[in-house]
Amino acid sequence: MVTPEEHEDGGSVPGLDTPEPDDFVLQASDLTKSFGSVAALRGATLELRAGEVLGVVGDNGAGKSTLIKTLSGVVAPDRGTIFFAGELVHFSSPRAARSLGIETVYQDLALCEHLTVARNLYLGRELTRHGLPWLDDRRMARSAEQFLERLGIVAVPGDAVVRNLSGGQRQAVAVAKAVAFSPRVLILDEPTAALGVREVEQVLDLVRRVRADGVGVILITHRMQDLFEVCDRLLIMYEGTDIARLTTKNTTLEEIVYYIDGGSGREHQRAGSITSAS
Ligand SMILES: Nc1ncnc2c1ncn2[C@@H]1O[C@H](COP(=O)(O)OP(=O)(O)OP(=O)(O)O)[C@@H](O)[C@H]1O
Ligand SMILES: [Mg+2]
Repeated sequence: MVTPEEHEDGGSVPGLDTPEPDDFVLQASDLTKSFGSVAALRGATLELRAGEVLGVVGDNGAGKSTLIKTLSGVVAPDRGTIFFAGELVHFSSPRAARSLGIETVYQDLALCEHLTVARNLYLGRELTRHGLPWLDDRRMARSAEQFLERLGIVAVPGDAVVRNLSGGQRQAVAVAKAVAFSPRVLILDEPTAALGVREVEQVLDLVRRVRADGVGVILITHRMQDLFEVCDRLLIMYEGTDIARLTTKNTTLEEIVYYIDGGSGREHQRAGSITSAS
């Protein structure tokens, strides 16, 4: 497939310009996955550089969540390869992906509702009282708050129980929890879907900070504004495959919608410059 980005970047020929694998922190090719008779992924390909935000967009059911689940070890692809920092990897579990520095915040958040913000942030590496076997909740709450503040997340008390937080606060805590592990790749599946305006800004700010630290970020979103605000590049999924790659600053909403719709229809005329879908 020739993408508009390739045309603008000098008309490179697909197949001849395959970059060296180590240009990318993540490079996945030909990912294929069926659930029974449903083909969720049909040979999808994705590349991610360190220090960039890649927006992944597509209609409901296009395979976005399944794609990132193959990258985070939740779903084993039926076919395809994943390179992490130039090395071929096979993730047998989410733990295997996390051990390489791939942190994921899933669409259905995985926070422990009955625990405090601090306990969630410290889950699995809780602080204890100096040399004693019991947990130091005050110290965890204090340092959780300091950590959240450094990330620009204010007004979330470390000792608050997660089920009492607003949707936006929970989302911010979930992202902060992933960031706390100093990932090399941060994957966010619809982190702004249910958020108010200010909360969205908080999450997007966090994405910018993480990118500035050299982390590669994959952001799945249905909100077009998010794409234009923080994404450097876009990967558009359609029926289980990557139908287009676009550079955000060189594209338009019409072009994105054209590809989300599968690269045909009336948007084609309006988008004008699009001649390269194949
Ligand atoms: N565990 C599963 N078992 C059966 N079918 C699944 C499973 N996970 C995904 N699917 C199917 O695979 C297809 C792709 O789903 P996926 O969740 O990847 O889409 P998506 O692009 O993330 O959609 P959305 O925007 O609604 O989140 C859908 O048809 C979905 O029903
Ligand atoms: Mg999804």
